[in-house]
Amino acid sequence: MHSSTSTGRPPGERGSDVLVIGGGIIGLVTAWRAAQRGLRTALADPAPGGGAAQVAAGMLAAVTELHYGEETLLGLNLASARRYPQFAAELAEASGGLDIGFRACGTLAVALDADDRTHLRELHALQRRCGLESEWLSGRECRRLEPMLAPGVRGGLRADGDHQVDPRRLAAALLAACARAGVVFHRAAVERLTVTGGRAAGAVLDSGTRLAADQVVLATGSLSGRLDGLPPEVAPPIRPVKGQVLRLRVPGAYAPFLTRTVRAVVRGSQVYLVPRENGELVIGATSEELGWDTTVTAGGVYELLRDAHELVPGITELPLTETRAGLRPGSPDNAPLLGPTELPGLHLATGHYRNGVLLTPVTGDALAEVLTTGELPAEARPFTPRRFSAGAPSAGPAGRTAREESLV
Ligand code: GLY
Repeated sequence: MHSSTSTGRPPGERGSDVLVIGGGIIGLVTAWRAAQRGLRTALADPAPGGGAAQVAAGMLAAVTELHYGEETLLGLNLASARRYPQFAAELAEASGGLDIGFRACGTLAVALDADDRTHLRELHALQRRCGLESEWLSGRECRRLEPMLAPGVRGGLRADGDHQVDPRRLAAALLAACARAGVVFHRAAVERLTVTGGRAAGAVLDSGTRLAADQVVLATGSLSGRLDGLPPEVAPPIRPVKGQVLRLRVPGAYAPFLTRTVRAVVRGSQVYLVPRENGELVIGATSEELGWDTTVTAGGVYELLRDAHELVPGITELPLTETRAGLRPGSPDNAPLLGPTELPGLHLATGHYRNGVLLTPVTGDALAEVLTTGELPAEARPFTPRRFSAGAPSAGPAGRTAREESLV
């Protein structure tokens, strides 16, 4: 589908079929998939390839991050998880050979005390009700799988379908694939959305350059509700949720340190350890409602190291190479907002919260479909931004209000 509005644009305005605002992994996958479908696609971002993916651990944790009340989101998470092997292969081809570090390693969620164990048993029951595959293991069986685990581990859940990718490599590959697919990059901040005749019509960059487009996709993560020119009634209800993450290095002499992702809830806080094949060990993550603050704090680092140390005491031997904080784009029901808004021409691809990396393949496919055909695929329809419009019948994709409690 090509633009029918290239005539009629003011002289000097640069036009495309689709303008994606935001160059994190969600904006990039949307632009790549749209360009693959033959849409003339532009993307505006001062530093494409940056954003939360530079911090995220990259767990594909549909099973071990299951939460009560999020069964509809589970369907989307699983649909995206299933696509990852093929997506990784296709992206390697399209990017000229860049590997995104997809690793089918599985995950072990463990319990350190009786409360954790009860919690994990409840999660296991919920997983079974949802038809998910996971296996209960004794503490000894957990340590047989992962000998670096603390002797005090009381039991665990083995989820062989929860894998990982390296989000930094994912961003780099998407950037290259976009460039090769002909996406036009505008490396500048967007000053405001342009609305003409009751339709989203493009954007103005901070340089003053005007970009015209038939359709606009807003994919600016935690900032998605804050674009000037966005009519208040379509501004997505997105908030930033801070996550502090550490990176350690496993020297060759210690390898293999962990063979799969290990995670737990320690005193009510999530901690996970994600071992990469290249020797990096990612430890995350705090979850803090502190606005746009991205300070790495002594308290955050201390708590992550303390909790990770309770699980895997040997981490204290490893070099600490990086500490960083990022912002998850949280939505009122913890699920993404995908597709058309009440403003004609404006689509959203935002609100992915804890699942941005996991949901990257399915988001690209859903947005490309709606941009070319006008229809969201069935699996993405529950995630329409219209569920938050005034007068919408329900507050969430499952037809129920958001539930914040978590099991893991
Ligand atoms: N999905 C991991 C996190 O949000 O910390």
